[in-house]
Amino acid sequence: MSIATLLLKGKEYDFPVLEGTEGETAIDITSLRAKSGAITLDPGYANTGSCTSAITFIDGEKGILRYRGHAIEDLAGTASFVEVCYLLIHGELPTPAELLVFDDQLTRHSLIHEDMKKFFEGFPPSAHPMAILSAMIASLSAYYSEHDNELNIIRLLSKAKTIVSFAYKKSIGQPFIYPCNALSYTQNFMQMMFAVPAEDYVVSPVVDRALNLLLILHADHEQNCSTSTVRMVGSSGANLFASISAGICALWGPLHGGANQQVIEMLQQIRQSGQSARKFVERAKEKDSGSKLMGFGHRVYKNFDPRATILKNAADQVLAALGMRDPLLDTAMELEQIALSDPYFIERKLYPNVDFYSGILYRAMGIPTNMFTAMFALGRLPGWIAQWKEMVKEPKTKINRPRQLYVGKTAREVESVETRIAATV
Ligand code: SDX
Repeated sequence: MSIATLLLKGKEYDFPVLEGTEGETAIDITSLRAKSGAITLDPGYANTGSCTSAITFIDGEKGILRYRGHAIEDLAGTASFVEVCYLLIHGELPTPAELLVFDDQLTRHSLIHEDMKKFFEGFPPSAHPMAILSAMIASLSAYYSEHDNELNIIRLLSKAKTIVSFAYKKSIGQPFIYPCNALSYTQNFMQMMFAVPAEDYVVSPVVDRALNLLLILHADHEQNCSTSTVRMVGSSGANLFASISAGICALWGPLHGGANQQVIEMLQQIRQSGQSARKFVERAKEKDSGSKLMGFGHRVYKNFDPRATILKNAADQVLAALGMRDPLLDTAMELEQIALSDPYFIERKLYPNVDFYSGILYRAMGIPTNMFTAMFALGRLPGWIAQWKEMVKEPKTKINRPRQLYVGKTAREVESVETRIAATV
């Protein structure tokens, strides 16, 4: 094993160097503080690995994304979302027999307890679907024992689609539509979203394929902010539902999964204001403008996000297949073209990420903007679950408890009130 040597205050300290299966290098500093008394400092953890994992591999320089070794381009073109759920959680794509059992389980656990429907009465119609989703997912722990992880994984994957669709029905004042066991996972979700008691809803094959694609592309992404949150919360021994609920809250942020909603609002604002795309890009470059080119940039990808490339092509194809046009797609493509030839974006290696085009597809499917991040969460669920399960099974898992560099006041006495008043005059 190779080693890395740190020279600190005249003393040398050796640390093992680990190599991953894709040739990545990591310096194992688990003994750093015990040996040297020092810690590392890495705000945002851009240079810090929190764990080893065998689930997803990303090469940001080459724009590579693989789930359990399978290229995202291969899975996006051929697999179903249910197959990718199985792959991420169990490590292999399911055999036809395994898929039949898994798919049937995801169908049979779609209902939420009738009492949980009452929770929706407490939310105002304007409640953000992510607020409802995180609350309802955490509340599942009130109904199911936290010790039946395998069945809880099925319950979570299956009930999440029902909760997301109920949140949508709640927001538009329509009655909940119950799951239908004769339908596939994605068909079932879409009928719960768009059927009404007066008439059935049959999802078009084009839309069903697009939904599978969207969910697959969002299914996992190694140690991103929300997945790290799931691991952080789970490392304390918190149950699966509580850990995933925390991940949902982390995903909600506009710098993370909330960006897909922000992208559409940005595109609409550009079109409604009559402002040129170029003028908007110029503003996005100004630090104090308060505006960014949402859907652009990534902590890991310093090349094209392969998911954005797939989504851009899919948006074009799905709109054409549905005989639809969306002027926001034209604006998005114009922004991309301007940014990709602008030195500011080129120097900083800022490319479209998964959120830049996903909203165009959601819109084409009739899904409203405020539901976009909940759709991201529905897709990310198998990844969060797989990462949580890997952490729970890892014998070396310890509670996550980072250190800090203290820069506050050093030890001092409590002064009398008089002294403190005197110091202010
Ligand atoms: C997701 O981690 C994951 O894997 C996440 C995700 C997943 O699947 O889980 O891929 C999903 O969250 C995608 C990202 C969605 N967020 C956005 O689209 C929001 C807009 N993007 C940025 O806020 C930003 O690019 C981040 C948050 C995505 C990444 O931020 P970093 O890595 O901390 O980079 P940074 O903010 O330090 O930016 C570096 C430079 C800065 O300029 P300088 O200070 O060097 O002059 O690039 C600039 C930034 O100001 N910059 C942007 C920009 N993104 C970065 N400038 C304008 N517009 C942008 N979008």
